[in-house]
Amino acid sequence: MSKSTGKGGSGTRKADDKQRIAAMGDLHVKETGTASFKDLFTEISQAADILVLTGDLTDLGKPKEAELLAADLRACTIPVVAVLGNHDYECGHVEEVTAIFKDAGVHLLEGQAVEINGVGFAGVKGFAGGFGRYMLGSFGEPAIKAMVAESVEETMRLENALRQVRSERAMVVLHYAPIPDTVVGEPQEIYAFLGSSRLAETIDRFPVSAVVHGHAHRGTYEGRTPGGAPVYNVASHIEKPTGRPYALLDL
Ligand SMILES: [Fe+2]
Ligand SMILES: [Fe+2]
Repeated sequence: MSKSTGKGGSGTRKADDKQRIAAMGDLHVKETGTASFKDLFTEISQAADILVLTGDLTDLGKPKEAELLAADLRACTIPVVAVLGNHDYECGHVEEVTAIFKDAGVHLLEGQAVEINGVGFAGVKGFAGGFGRYMLGSFGEPAIKAMVAESVEETMRLENALRQVRSERAMVVLHYAPIPDTVVGEPQEIYAFLGSSRLAETIDRFPVSAVVHGHAHRGTYEGRTPGGAPVYNVASHIEKPTGRPYALLDL
C-alpha cells in the first residue's frame, strides 16, 4: 500500500489523531463548465483533513470535463482520494481521464489502497448486480454471465485492496452501493443496477471503519452492512447532516 502524508487541511491534526474526512460523489462536471467546485473545495480544505470523491467525477467521461475538475481541485489543499464512476467510462476515454486526475495529484484507486495520515483507503468502482438472494446469477446467455463476472471481478479487486490495508482505521471507497438500504428512495425496479451485495460480503471479511459510495442520487444517506460496517451514500444530491453537498466523517 502506498503511503502519503497530508498537506495539512485544518492544520493542527497529526497522523495519529482522528482524521476528519469529507466525502462526496457524483459531481458530474460538464464540458460547459457552468458549475465550478473551486469555492466548495476551498471550504472543504478548511473543514476536513482528507477529501474522498466517490465517482461520477465527470458527466460523460470526456477529458475536457476531467481537466475542468482537475483545475478546480487546485483550490483543494488537502489530499484527495477518489474512485471513478460509470459516467467516467461513457466516452471510452477512461485512460486519459484517469491520467488527468492522477497528474492532478489525486490518489485514484482502482483496486488499490493508500494510507494517508494513518487511515487506509481501499477503493474500487464496484458494479451492478443486485442485492441479497435476488442478485443476478451466472446463468444463461454469455452477456448475463459477463455481467456477473464483472461484478465478481470488482469484488475481487476490492478484496485485494483491503488486503493491502495495514492501518487499524480503514475506509472503503466505492461508486456502486454495497447494500440496498442506501439506495432506498430510488425506484425499486432499478435497485439491481445500483450496486451489489457481493461488495458487502467482501467488506464484512475485513475490519472496516466506514464505507462511502455514490451513484444512487435519490438514495438514503446512512445504512450498515450485514456485518455492521457503517455505509454512507455521499452522492452530492443526498441530504446530509452537514447540510452541505459533502459528508464529514471522523475516523
Ligand atoms: Fe451519478
Ligand atoms: Fe453513477
